Amino acid sequence: MALFQKNTLPAPRHIAIIMDGNGRWAKQRGLPRNAGHKAGAETFRRIAAHCGKIGVQYLTVYAFSTENWKRSEEEVGGIMTLLENYLEEALRDMEKHRVRLKFFGDLSRLSPTLQAKCREAEGKTAVFATLQVNFCFNYGGRDEITRAAKAFAADVASGKCSAEELTEEKLASYLYSENIPDPELIIRPSGEMRISNFLLWQCAYSEFVFMDVLWPDFTAADLDKAIAEYHGRNRRFGGV
Ligand code: IPE
Ligand code: IPE
Ligand code: MG
Repeated sequence: MALFQKNTLPAPRHIAIIMDGNGRWAKQRGLPRNAGHKAGAETFRRIAAHCGKIGVQYLTVYAFSTENWKRSEEEVGGIMTLLENYLEEALRDMEKHRVRLKFFGDLSRLSPTLQAKCREAEGKTAVFATLQVNFCFNYGGRDEITRAAKAFAADVASGKCSAEELTEEKLASYLYSENIPDPELIIRPSGEMRISNFLLWQCAYSEFVFMDVLWPDFTAADLDKAIAEYHGRNRRFGGV
């Protein structure tokens, strides 16, 4: 008998993941925190491939928050270097599997070289549509909403639109996630049960699955388990 029952129901259209637990994974092994981030990057690759296979259309991952700058210079520098080194390799993967890569977050705080590499990766994959990966880097939900409000205010000030035109849909069109459906499922591994400033607007009716596994140990089977749990939920959206 199979140990693990495969999901027969379709995968959610949009899955979001808070990739947490890299530091604890490294500590358990007596390794520096950045070894955990490296292992976490490998997990991301495997999980993105699995999402493509099971028909997920959008995968949004939280990689670095607007609050993560509080960490040591060594750790932050290590994460920046990891992203830079990893982008070229990731790009090959993405071109092969026809994955579109988008960055959500304020990239202006990154080095000019890294910013250019991120934009180049977005440009090179813009034609692909099998799976869209939204990579949240220097991302904060509050920052995203504040930026949207600011951009709308600027459009009002320049006469492009009037304040009365503001609706939920209109404000959403100024977010990084414009034109993308809200995530049906948000997964947080590592045992923490909080949102940590992730997708504050988009999570209004998302289903949350918290798991004890640390992100570098997270497997395709864990993802399938979370999806199975999602399918067992009764989503009411405020109705009965
Ligand atoms: C998530 O893992 C990656 C980032 C936030 C950059 P952590 O580094 O937060 O790992 P823990 O939570 O300390 O184990
Ligand atoms: C959230 O994890 C950010 C990412 C995974 C990128 P944190 O580890 O920064 O969140 P807290 O500090 O536990 O809330
Ligand atoms: Mg953490």
